[in-house]
Amino acid sequence: MPVSSNMQGKVVTVTRYIMEMERNIPDATGDFSNLLSEITLAGKMIQREVSKAGLVDVLGKTGTVNVQGEEVMKLDALADRIIYQALDHTGLLCVMASEEEEDVLHIPPEYPCGKYVLNYDPLDGSSNIEANVSIGTIFSIHRRVTPGNGHGTEVDCMQPGFKQVAAGYLVYGSSCMLVFTTGQGVHGFTLDPSMGEFLLSHEDIRIPGSGNIYSVNEGNRELWSQGTKDYVDGLRDPGKRNGSGPYKSRYIGSLVADFHRTLLYGGIFLYPSDTSSPQGKLRLLYEAAPLAFIVEQAGGMAVDGTSRRIMDILPDELHQRTPLVIGSRENVEDYLKSDR
Ligand code: AHG
Ligand code: MN
Ligand code: MN
Repeated sequence: MPVSSNMQGKVVTVTRYIMEMERNIPDATGDFSNLLSEITLAGKMIQREVSKAGLVDVLGKTGTVNVQGEEVMKLDALADRIIYQALDHTGLLCVMASEEEEDVLHIPPEYPCGKYVLNYDPLDGSSNIEANVSIGTIFSIHRRVTPGNGHGTEVDCMQPGFKQVAAGYLVYGSSCMLVFTTGQGVHGFTLDPSMGEFLLSHEDIRIPGSGNIYSVNEGNRELWSQGTKDYVDGLRDPGKRNGSGPYKSRYIGSLVADFHRTLLYGGIFLYPSDTSSPQGKLRLLYEAAPLAFIVEQAGGMAVDGTSRRIMDILPDELHQRTPLVIGSRENVEDYLKSDR
């Protein structure tokens, strides 16, 4: 839901919008506004590196492998450090978890700990970095659950999606966008490079009830279950959709970009389990759960390939993977009806 109608048509920065939202939260302390503002600062810094990636030596590989067993791109490592250093001194977080780091990231001893927790994928879509294809950052914010006000632990990071207090992503593409939810709808802000400010551009985003675009890596088709094969094959049936023709196939290979298009245009994104990745490929805490919070706030649906809601999954390890089927409610329900 929009924060207040008198913002339509005005130049509204993300900082002002967050403050207006805080006014709707009785015991808001402003900590939250500060946290989101620091994240936007990190986003601007990453966007700056992404926009000049082809010019300076941040392309290519670091020659190291992360906890996921994946080659670490220089921009992955840079983005990871930018986010950590933008937030480690704020006194707002008690612990962080990053896709790029095996263990949780503690707040340096010289800084105070706060009441929030940040799980993040610093750079999503790494395989696309060198091709100048849209990439992004995904973040998820929880309140700490361990007692006291000292360092947080894995327990604070490994909370189910329904406990999130905020979730969002940045897309570094033709323009730089920030999309987030705090449980009061989904709102999008576009970076105005001339001002260095994220300005409200998409207030109260609602995903269409259904869409005619499906997004999946069909290269994995022979690894899917028969039900998933039948469902996706059915989308190519010219007679589908009461004869109005097959669905369109769109697959960028950056989750944030594929999700952002699905959120705005409707349809379905799938990264199902397959024989080579029985638990799926995408990570629960800093990919699936934050996007599930956003899509549900926008009126959509996110499940793990069965009828289990992503937001209900209780994590039992930090880098846990999950199958992900996310998008317009009618499309996801159509998937669930297919005999998978
Ligand atoms: P990351 O770059 O953070 O590791 O994420 C890559 C993910 C996600 O962005 C995308 O949807 C998926 O990998 C693409 O996987 P495939 O190349 O197997 O299709
Ligand atoms: Mn990712
Ligand atoms: Mn990543």
